[in-house]
Amino acid sequence: MFLKTQFLFLLTLVLATSTVTTAIDPGSTLSASSSNQTWSSPSGTFSLLFIPVQPPTTPPSFIAAIAYTGGNPVVWSAGNGAAVDSGGSLQFLRSGDLRLVNGSGSAVWDAGTAGATSATLEDSGNLVISNGTGTLWSSFDHPTDTLVPSQNFSVGKVLTSERYSFSLSSIGNLTLTWNNSIVYWNQGNSSVNASSDSPVLALSPIGLLQLSYAKLSTVALVAYSSDYDKNDGVFRVLKLDNDGNLRIYSSSLGGGTPSVRWTAVSDQCEVYAYCGNYGVCSYNDSSPVCGCPSQNFEMVDPNDSRRGCRRKVSLDSCQRNVTVLTLDHTVVLSYPPEAASQSFFIGLSACSTNCLSNSGACFAATSLSDGSGQCVIKSEDFVSGYHDPSLPSTSYIKVCPPLAPNPPPSIGDSVREKRSRVPAWVVVVIILGTLLGLIALEGGLWMWCCRHSTRLGVLSAQYALLEYASGAPVQFSYKELQQATKGFKEKLGAGGFGAVYRGTLVNKTVVAVKQLEGIEQGEKQFRMEVATISSTHHLNLVRLIGFCSEGRHRLLVYEFMKNGSLDDFLFLTEQHSGKLLNWEYRFNIALGTARGITYLHEECRDCIVHCDIKPENILLDENYVAKVSDFGLAKLINPKDHRHRTLTSVRGTRGYLAPEWLANLPITSKSDVYGYGMVLLEIVSGRRNFDVSEETNRKKFSIWAYEEFEKGNISGILDKRLANQEVDMEQVRRAIQASFWCIQEQPSHRPTMSRVLQMLEGVTEPERPPAPKSVMEGAVSGTSTYLSSNASAFSVGVSPPGPSSSSSFQTSAVSTFTSGRNLEKTTSSLLQSDT
Ligand SMILES: *[C@@H]1O[C@H](CO)[C@@H](O)[C@H](O)[C@H]1NC(C)=O
Ligand SMILES: *[C@@H]1O[C@H](CO)[C@@H](O)[C@H](O)[C@H]1NC(C)=O
Ligand SMILES: *[C@@H]1O[C@H](CO)[C@@H](O)[C@H](O)[C@H]1NC(C)=O
Ligand SMILES: *[C@@H]1O[C@H](CO)[C@@H](O)[C@H](O)[C@H]1NC(C)=O
Ligand SMILES: *[C@@H]1O[C@H](CO)[C@@H](O)[C@H](O)[C@H]1NC(C)=O
Ligand SMILES: *[C@@H]1O[C@H](CO)[C@@H](O)[C@H](O)[C@H]1NC(C)=O
Ligand SMILES: *[C@@H]1O[C@H](CO)[C@@H](O)[C@H](O)[C@H]1NC(C)=O
Ligand SMILES: *[C@@H]1O[C@H](CO)[C@@H](O)[C@H](O)[C@H]1NC(C)=O
Ligand SMILES: *[C@@H]1O[C@H](CO)[C@@H](O)[C@H](O)[C@H]1NC(C)=O
Ligand SMILES: *[C@@H]1O[C@H](CO)[C@@H](O)[C@H](O)[C@H]1NC(C)=O
Ligand SMILES: *[C@@H]1O[C@H](CO)[C@@H](O)[C@H](O)[C@H]1NC(C)=O
Repeated sequence: MFLKTQFLFLLTLVLATSTVTTAIDPGSTLSASSSNQTWSSPSGTFSLLFIPVQPPTTPPSFIAAIAYTGGNPVVWSAGNGAAVDSGGSLQFLRSGDLRLVNGSGSAVWDAGTAGATSATLEDSGNLVISNGTGTLWSSFDHPTDTLVPSQNFSVGKVLTSERYSFSLSSIGNLTLTWNNSIVYWNQGNSSVNASSDSPVLALSPIGLLQLSYAKLSTVALVAYSSDYDKNDGVFRVLKLDNDGNLRIYSSSLGGGTPSVRWTAVSDQCEVYAYCGNYGVCSYNDSSPVCGCPSQNFEMVDPNDSRRGCRRKVSLDSCQRNVTVLTLDHTVVLSYPPEAASQSFFIGLSACSTNCLSNSGACFAATSLSDGSGQCVIKSEDFVSGYHDPSLPSTSYIKVCPPLAPNPPPSIGDSVREKRSRVPAWVVVVIILGTLLGLIALEGGLWMWCCRHSTRLGVLSAQYALLEYASGAPVQFSYKELQQATKGFKEKLGAGGFGAVYRGTLVNKTVVAVKQLEGIEQGEKQFRMEVATISSTHHLNLVRLIGFCSEGRHRLLVYEFMKNGSLDDFLFLTEQHSGKLLNWEYRFNIALGTARGITYLHEECRDCIVHCDIKPENILLDENYVAKVSDFGLAKLINPKDHRHRTLTSVRGTRGYLAPEWLANLPITSKSDVYGYGMVLLEIVSGRRNFDVSEETNRKKFSIWAYEEFEKGNISGILDKRLANQEVDMEQVRRAIQASFWCIQEQPSHRPTMSRVLQMLEGVTEPERPPAPKSVMEGAVSGTSTYLSSNASAFSVGVSPPGPSSSSSFQTSAVSTFTSGRNLEKTTSSLLQSDT
């Protein structure tokens, strides 16, 4: 495999070097028919050449393009993809003009560079035409649909692809626009005072998409490639695809098929006009598919469903007698300014009659079925639809009678319908059965409660118990928790998110009540986060029993962990000198913690980055089983976008913070891996990773430990207190090796948690870890304490593992519904209601 790649690489090098022309001389011609002829950059990284149009046409046609090694990806094309026949050519005329000419001899595109004396394709991918004293034209200044690293995208430039365009406004607002009029995606930051400075967008070679303001000397992170890394030998581009979506692609050095690493509009059906006029976008199991609203419509091009649909009978032919087609679970996309001006609040049926009676100025309407009664009118004869069973809205489209079969015969629907065709009586029986069962259960519980506890006669407590039994989080009143904790008397500790108190519920369950501080979220979002946290169950995660959200009060109720937190057992202090865990317990705690974090990262539905892995957050139950606590809280405290964060906004604990926190790089699940690596080293050594002493040659313990590891002195790293005990040195070696892999400076060099688990379990034998050089080295003094907790944390989304992760990676992770199209998010953003 490796040999083959290398061979291909050599082959391309040979091919490229054989035709190298560092400067393109006036009078040169590149012809479309001789496909092996290219104009290459000095090192052959980029070439200017003719590429057959995809999909192939008959007779064949070609575009003149600048492409990366091996022809993929294309980063620029003459005339933005203008095609010529096989007689066509690209000519650098003696007059200085660069011209794309069709077989017939007619000019298809012209750079307008009369007077130029030289043209050069640089190694950056920039084609520069100059006249000896200055640059007259460059391909970087005239981008088509792609940006390469080191290419600056400034105000006034535009990426285009068919009718879609991407641009940057002078206040740093990035927008995706259809037909130069409908903005269906934008990302800006109104609090950046950019009026005095022109922003420049650039994709850095390591995969960060950044806006820089030269005068303000600030850089804002817009997005990042999910495989971002330093100097890692990957070539990335930002591309506006012809489906209206903006993506970051990565391909390996030397070419290869690029893969998607970031997508601007995560829900493809929200891209305006993706399915053309009167097309309705929906999803089959995996991909967006286009269909027509009903049989009243036909496809414009049966061979290309994205071209849209048209009425079989035009509205003009039935002017006084039109009717409306009703489409359930469908929205007609409407973005500002249209959405704002054509939106009002009336009922469902009024929305459709209103559109009907509005003879000229209504072609379609959407009514939200969420109780708000919002109705959005479409006054232009252009309808872009989105159908999904989860959309709580109904749309109406004007057609000539009679109404043809309806709902829409789109692929996704017909499949779904077949699946759900169950006789009505079965449904009735099931519903009745369920109801009876619930009543019986409730009655039973009620009787049980009354017999066992007199205090449980209270109705709310009864429901609470019912909820607890069902696994849903119980909602407590503030008063109930005040009573349970005897007025917040017994403080168990003060974590980063607030103080924790011991309490006893009315059913005698002992709990830990956490009083959250600095919550910036509204009630609804808080409940959503609580739902996520409490639906995350694993043996190695502390279980959330309930919550309280009342006025300013936000409290979480957890199961109580009898043995407290791991730090009590690892580090010698005056209070806890007596407790010591033997190696077997320690190793099991290391495994349990790794399993808990693996579950958070990879196995649960709404994946979570913990952001604060440290011994204090690893609790031990009565059997010394490790349970990770405080997961999901980073999201609660500051749900704001993390892209414009500053150093001061870093929560988390120094010593366990991955270097990317300090370097202001994106936080991913790999940041937790770093924290875990430090904890693992501490489990083995019983020493804080940042301890400095004479014994460690005045170096940080983790640095010193690596040096000892290099020398083969594994027993020197092991906790001295275990010296006389039975210790499995093979496990110790594996744990130390795994920990050094985890604390690598570059995120992509760290393994995933599931891989760490395999290393610990001995399933895979890890290679020897390189030195975990840390940028924090020297920044932390020997007496360093943990970072103060008044800083705030923020939320980060993890892309779910698996092949789909790359395309669905989202940088804004505020929503709990990472799985895709949730009702509230979709409808409100589609209709962009200002209210
Ligand atoms: C291109 O390849 C053909 C054969 O495949 C060869 O005859 C021709 O000379 C080559 N042209 C150049 C410019 O290398
Ligand atoms: C180039 O010529 C071909 C036929 O020779 C024609 O089909 C094509 O449209 C022309 N391209 C342009 C851009 O004029
Ligand atoms: C080259 O172009 C620049 C800018 O268009 C112009 O100012 C300059 O006079 C030109 N030089 C020559 C030698 O034509
Ligand atoms: C892009 O901008 C940066 C600074 O704003 C500058 O140093 C760099 O030369 C520019 N790159 C190109 C290709 O113009
Ligand atoms: C698209 O843009 C053209 C030109 O600006 C305009 O005439 C046309 O009405 C627009 N179409 C729609 C559906 O907005
Ligand atoms: C960015 O532009 C869009 C469309 O013009 C607008 O709706 C949005 O409010 C702008 N955002 C900022 C932060 O200015
Ligand atoms: C906007 O920028 C300001 C200052 O750089 C920052 O504090 C704020 O968090 C940013 N807001 C968003 C939504 O990115
Ligand atoms: C933005 O900057 C301009 C000029 O530097 C200044 O006049 C204006 O008050 C600033 N606006 C805000 C909101 O800071
Ligand atoms: C979904 O649609 C895509 C594109 O039309 C198609 O390639 C794929 O096979 C479809 N999948 C299913 C499960 O129907
Ligand atoms: C669709 O494709 C078929 C076969 O490829 C062709 O015969 C037909 O003309 C095409 N229809 C349209 C509208 O292009
Ligand atoms: C309107 O449509 C109905 C049937 O839907 C038909 O009976 C009636 O004649 C039509 N009226 C006109 C004016 O076309």
